[in-house]
Amino acid sequence: MYEVEIGIIGATGPQGSAIGARLASIGYQIVLGSRSQEKASQVAQDIIEAWPTHDLKIRGDLNEQAARCDLVVLATQWEATVPTAMDLKGELAGKTVVSMANALVRSGREFHALVPARGSIASWLQASLPDSKVVACLQHVPASELGAVDRECSCDVLVCSDFDDAAGQVSSILDLVPGMRTIHCGSLSASFAIESLTAVLLTINLKYKTRSSVKISGVGLKPEAP
Ligand SMILES: NC(=O)c1ccc[n+]([C@@H]2O[C@H](COP(=O)([O-])OP(=O)(O)OC[C@H]3O[C@@H](n4cnc5c(N)ncnc54)[C@H](OP(=O)(O)O)[C@@H]3O)[C@@H](O)[C@H]2O)c1
Repeated sequence: MYEVEIGIIGATGPQGSAIGARLASIGYQIVLGSRSQEKASQVAQDIIEAWPTHDLKIRGDLNEQAARCDLVVLATQWEATVPTAMDLKGELAGKTVVSMANALVRSGREFHALVPARGSIASWLQASLPDSKVVACLQHVPASELGAVDRECSCDVLVCSDFDDAAGQVSSILDLVPGMRTIHCGSLSASFAIESLTAVLLTINLKYKTRSSVKISGVGLKPEAP
């Protein structure tokens, strides 16, 4: 069990509850946040009951309480990411804040990437939270894979941030997930390409009836501190 407590804001959706379950499965204490205390507690209870053989330290609370944790993940629907974080600016100051959001729209049998202010949700978030350290990652990992805590999460996770220490902190946590490998992609300027790529992967999923993810090849490529 790690001392670090991780808060997840908007954790009642598929991705927030999945990352919560996964991080709890590797020994972190998790606070699942929501706008509704009752909804958060119910989702926490559902996760614990879904994995009876795992000793998951998860509880539900309001987003404000999740934002008081040592490290915070934003998992609201993408449109609410920046407004929700702005409301919690004080609680998030001085902390590493993880952005998983993808601004996307579905159009028939395709997904299209939208371009948010500042080019990406993560860059917009960083501009809105100057006293926090935003780390963009996990955009390409589907909730179904992330949340299946009895299986390896076989994927690469592209990580970028304007703060090397924050990127290293998040990578050191995610690299503990069995099968997961983080790859550092530089500053948040990379988040435009990373977030947009998700639309391509989702379109591939529709066309090939599959669940694609990202694997980077390259001689000598291995996770290392930024
Ligand atoms: N789903 C995936 O497989 C996946 C994969 C990679 C990345 N992502 C990203 O991860 C994030 C979460 O995805 P998701 O599919 O779990 O999202 P979601 O189900 O659409 O929404 C997650 C939660 O956001 C909260 N929320 C909704 N509207 C809100 C508002 N106006 N203000 C504040 N909170 C609001 C709700 O929580 P409460 O009602 O409890 O407050 C909801 O349960 C998104 O940014 C998405 O782009 C998702």
